[in-house]
Amino acid sequence: MGNIFPRWTNLLAIKILVGLMALGTCVVAVAWYSWTPKHTRVGYMPEQPIPFDHSLHAGQLGMDCRYCHSQVENSPHSNLPAAQVCWNCHGPGKAKADSPKLELLRQAMDVNYEGYTGKPIEWVQVHKVPDYAHFTHQAHVNRGVSCAECHGRVDQMPVVVHEKPLSMSWCLECHRDPGKSLRPLDEITNLAWKAEDLDSKAFYAYLAEKMETSVSKLEKADEGKKWDRELIGAHLQKAWSVHPPQDCASCHY
Ligand code: HEC
Ligand code: HEC
Ligand code: HEC
Ligand code: HEC
Ligand code: HEC
Repeated sequence: MGNIFPRWTNLLAIKILVGLMALGTCVVAVAWYSWTPKHTRVGYMPEQPIPFDHSLHAGQLGMDCRYCHSQVENSPHSNLPAAQVCWNCHGPGKAKADSPKLELLRQAMDVNYEGYTGKPIEWVQVHKVPDYAHFTHQAHVNRGVSCAECHGRVDQMPVVVHEKPLSMSWCLECHRDPGKSLRPLDEITNLAWKAEDLDSKAFYAYLAEKMETSVSKLEKADEGKKWDRELIGAHLQKAWSVHPPQDCASCHY
């Protein structure tokens, strides 16, 4: 299956860069800028073996991301669902059971089907950080960073598209000032969440308990301030003492 991020490309690019730097060529800067994956990955939207539609399943049908990406809170990786998960709804007699779009699913799952192969569905990977950079989902989603911050509105995508750069400068931009990107933990997979959705009374009560202060003190300090993501995020950053790492070794080891 076409993997556009073979592990050697970045290493090779770095070796070439270092080699050219030694020669003191300034063309390198321009070449590097246009080569680096961060400038070409945005917009990557590979065709998948089954035309799975997030805007239908996660959007219209309202399925939670964790129904399929069940390990996202407990693991570095956000797993893809096994064919069995699809089969629960698309098995014999169920939703769109005879759809031609689900041919590969029947081949994978239906032992009574003449075309049965038992082969798992080979989804094409969309997002990928290079092997030399370390990324983990659990550290982010358990600290109030929603899928939407890094993947965009997947719940509105008929086909998943690589929307954010996932480049080092992009990671660091948030790490330097994470406050405005935080939201309450139970809204992580609610990609449509807005500041106005949050009940201020309940929020101040939560903060007061967490920070061992009183609701009235908190409310007084916020008097006249705009009720927006920045304000909510600043409170959450303080209450949870969120300090994303910026040192090289945290992401490269
Ligand atoms: C019914 C199962 C299901 C649900 C629910 C679901 N997904 Fe997915 N997701 C998949 C499958 C299957 C793929 C692989 C095929 C594809 O890319 O469309 C995938 C792929 C992805 C990818 C791209 C993975 C890569 O290769 O980089 C992202 C990001 C993603 N999902 C995010 C989400 C988010 C966010 C939600 C909740 C709003 C969600 N998904 C809900 C099944 C699901
Ligand atoms: C909770 C139930 C549920 C799960 C789980 C589920 N689907 Fe669906 N899916 C549906 C429903 C319901 C529809 C049909 C909506 C409609 O009537 O148009 C649908 C439609 C589809 C279609 C469009 C079929 C057509 O002919 O229009 C495809 C393709 C599809 N699903 C693939 C998948 C895949 C792949 C998975 C597993 C990653 C999956 N679904 C998991 C409920 C589910
Ligand atoms: C802080 C940014 C960030 C957040 C938040 C985030 N992701 Fe990701 N996601 C990434 C990156 C970076 C990758 C590529 C990971 C890699 O190559 O190891 C990725 C990859 C994926 C993949 C492909 C499988 C994998 O782990 O490589 C899926 C599926 C996915 N994300 C789903 C989700 C869902 C669902 C959520 C929300 C519950 C979410 N992501 C939240 C940045 C993020
Ligand atoms: C939208 C904001 C945001 C983005 C984008 C983001 N991060 Fe983070 N990152 C955080 C937050 C918040 C934490 C948690 C800090 C804490 O717990 O104090 C974190 C923590 C981490 C940690 C520490 C994990 C641990 O186990 O302690 C690493 C490593 C990391 N991020 C790597 C990355 C990489 C690599 C990228 C880019 C691919 C990235 N992050 C993008 C917000 C972000
Ligand atoms: C928050 C995580 C994070 C931190 C902190 C971080 N990096 Fe990176 N770095 C990345 C990611 C992710 C990539 C891959 C970027 C891509 O795919 O384009 C990367 C790529 C690189 C590259 C390859 C060139 C490039 O820009 O693509 C070099 C060299 C590098 N980092 C050096 C460093 C040094 C030196 C430091 C400390 C000053 C550092 N990094 C700190 C996440 C981080």
